[in-house]
Amino acid sequence: MPDITPTLRLHHYELPAMDKAHHLFTALLGALPLASRTALPCLLNNLLTNVRKHFDQEERFMLATGYAGYEDHRQGHQQLVSMLTHFQHQLDIGEDLDPLDLHMQLCSWQDEHQQSWDAPLAQHLRHASCWKAAAKVA
Ligand SMILES: [Fe+2]
Repeated sequence: MPDITPTLRLHHYELPAMDKAHHLFTALLGALPLASRTALPCLLNNLLTNVRKHFDQEERFMLATGYAGYEDHRQGHQQLVSMLTHFQHQLDIGEDLDPLDLHMQLCSWQDEHQQSWDAPLAQHLRHASCWKAAAKVA
């Protein structure tokens, strides 16, 4: 299998909730190349359920800490939800999707999203002062 995302790595952000969500999402992504055509709808549904929880958590953390990049980061999340729901729709109307192709597309999204959005967010969240400042405002 070619190395489709040479820079994609599973990171450890030293933020237990964020790390747990990322590790689970990455594990589900890793199952895609193994999915049979009949398992694909169930796996896509599990991915969609997982990312909705994962993104909701990140978005709550951003709001709780007054994160300036909230809206742009949230739009990135919506892009992935739209991709997954589009894949589900394609399956619903009987199109034959290649799990390896979906894997490549989703890994590319994840690679770009981690570098552009999740790594800066993790750096922001690791500073305890941003949590305290937000708590004083609330
Ligand atoms: Fe994110």
